[in-house]
Amino acid sequence: MNYLIFLLVIAMCSGLNEGCEVQNQLNPGSALKVNCSSNKIHVEGLHELKFNEKYNITVRELGMGNKIVWRCTLRHGDKVKSSQTIWRAYRGASQMRSGEKRSWIDRVDGIYLEKNDKAKGLEHHWIVAKQ
Ligand SMILES: *[C@@H]1O[C@H](CO)[C@@H](O)[C@H](O)[C@H]1NC(C)=O
Ligand SMILES: *[C@@H]1O[C@H](CO)[C@@H](O)[C@H](O)[C@H]1NC(C)=O
Repeated sequence: MNYLIFLLVIAMCSGLNEGCEVQNQLNPGSALKVNCSSNKIHVEGLHELKFNEKYNITVRELGMGNKIVWRCTLRHGDKVKSSQTIWRAYRGASQMRSGEKRSWIDRVDGIYLEKNDKAKGLEHHWIVAKQ
């Protein structure tokens, strides 16, 4: 019985603090559009971030060999001609982890990653549509 309660507490306490964040650090006056979805059923609506704003989605790792993967589409600029889809914005592990955080910092020269608050540098360039 105690063992069951223990398992329940573990289940409730793990896999609940993960975050995937997007930050607009483009230019004052530049809006960033972001929409994310997972390889499971989640679909987040379109969000528009002003300069210096952040958008954070709570990610839940599934564990038991079931890897969650979130992807996000980012767009900005005149007629949103600059865009990029980050296919592995957040990639879950097969074992449930806790407290993982990915931040995608969007600058004029590209998209930078911070993994658990540690800077990882430029990861993606913007794809600029020819018009
Ligand atoms: C944002 O991410 C953190 C983890 O970095 C998480 O604990 C928190 O619940 C998230 N907040 C929102 C509003 O999604
Ligand atoms: C974001 O929305 C666009 C337009 O509806 C869609 O094509 C794209 O697949 C979406 N991106 C993600 C990561 O769901």
